[in-house]
Amino acid sequence: MIEKEKWERTFREPLDEPPAHEPERQYYFMEKARKYIQEASARAGRPLTFHVTTFGCQMNARDSEKLEGILKKVGYVEEPEEEKADFVIYNTCTVRENANQRVYGRLGQLGHAKKSNPHMMIALCGCMMQEPQVVEKLKKSYHFVDIIFGTHNIYKFAELIAARMESDRMIIDIWKDTDKIVEDLPVARKYPFKSGVNIMFGCNNFCSYCIVPYVRGRERSRDPKAIIREVERLAADGVVEIMLLGQNVNSYGKTLEHPMTFAQLLEEVEKVDGIERIRFMTSHPKDLSDELIEVMGRSKKICRHLHLPVQSGSSRILEKMNRRYTKEQYLALVEKIRAAVPDISLTTDIIVGFPGETEEDFQETLDVVRRVRYDSAFTFIYSKRTGTPAAAMEDQVPQVVVKDRFDRLLKEVQEIAGEVCAVHQGTVQEVLVESVNDHDPSLMTGRMSNNLLVHFPGGEDLTGKLVQVRLDECRGFYYLGHMV
Ligand code: 5AD
Ligand code: SF4
Repeated sequence: MIEKEKWERTFREPLDEPPAHEPERQYYFMEKARKYIQEASARAGRPLTFHVTTFGCQMNARDSEKLEGILKKVGYVEEPEEEKADFVIYNTCTVRENANQRVYGRLGQLGHAKKSNPHMMIALCGCMMQEPQVVEKLKKSYHFVDIIFGTHNIYKFAELIAARMESDRMIIDIWKDTDKIVEDLPVARKYPFKSGVNIMFGCNNFCSYCIVPYVRGRERSRDPKAIIREVERLAADGVVEIMLLGQNVNSYGKTLEHPMTFAQLLEEVEKVDGIERIRFMTSHPKDLSDELIEVMGRSKKICRHLHLPVQSGSSRILEKMNRRYTKEQYLALVEKIRAAVPDISLTTDIIVGFPGETEEDFQETLDVVRRVRYDSAFTFIYSKRTGTPAAAMEDQVPQVVVKDRFDRLLKEVQEIAGEVCAVHQGTVQEVLVESVNDHDPSLMTGRMSNNLLVHFPGGEDLTGKLVQVRLDECRGFYYLGHMV
């Protein structure tokens, strides 16, 4: 039997050239990797397992679903605990320095685990791998890593796995940029009833603090037909809520052969039967059009939630950040949105301690928070990213000052968010039931259109269903309720 397999391999492979085109080429490598993994499983006497650990944003979460789709296709079985898996993949983030430190720390522990598991492989991918100094450090001090790849070529994962199985070396494949978008590869969705859908990749905005344009490359939009085809397939597969993903969705479509706007794309997505809810992430205030506000106002499916990162309330700092709007323009935009969609929930991102930020600048940020009254806000301490313009700016703010501002901002944001959350008390809301409550298995957890969570008595069979829930009691940032 073994002899026959050997014979087949020697005689088939030279004739069996990988296809030149994608995605066919990747299906060829998936088949190849599957055979290697079958052999390795036979040697181990058990199925080999994988675990993908995701750092960072929704984009990375979606990329991880693509990696998992490929891993399952090549025959790995998912292992919920990272320490027990034969193949551990870190999909990394580098937007702030502390994310990088966490990866190095955990990687050290993985190195120890690898010594006692002869089948173990480690792969690193994502934004952090697009930084040359990171890859240098990994090559020098972490030689137990098997595969390193970046953000532009995750579709090649099967090809890289096959390459690693045929070599005893670390496989490194990092691209500086790409204009290629490969469609129709396997995806393993985390939830059966909701899914992210990439509509564009990369970012052209170059906010002066941000590393994303350097690690995710130039902005490119997916063909609208491919997007709609994917949404239709998801709907046919039972998905009711989709989240359209891009670093700056408001500039969708500008680079297409036949340009179209994000608002036009939303209208097309809205037509897909079976999709009940549409979300999107992230909006840049400078590109948010009147057309989009109008579409949101009349849509039955677009959720009553808009994430609109402000970053700072000081026009002086906004200019240094290269955000291309002023405090006044931002506030006017918020007013316009609220006029068209009165029940909208607004959330934001805020950075404190950008170089040169004074107490007056910080007070402007607090002023925006008080005026807009966000439903919630992600607050970040400015992190210096090598290679960005802000990293070279003078007057970096001392850590003690930043920490003090951060604490004051957080307090303000939380107080307001608590008050804003409470206004829905007593109302009946449609919620999409997502899961059994983490702490109390007699409760189910659902999400409202405005993104708030509510916990209510119910059975697991409700998962993925849209139900009506009365909001009985606000508990700060979530509700307790009951189905009506
Ligand atoms: N330091 C701190 N926060 C940052 N962000 C992006 N770059 C940095 C940085 N260098 C924040 C922004 C962005 C969010 C995703 O991360 O607020 O909107
Ligand atoms: Fe970074 Fe600005 Fe692009 Fe957002 S819009 S990813 S903050 S450069």
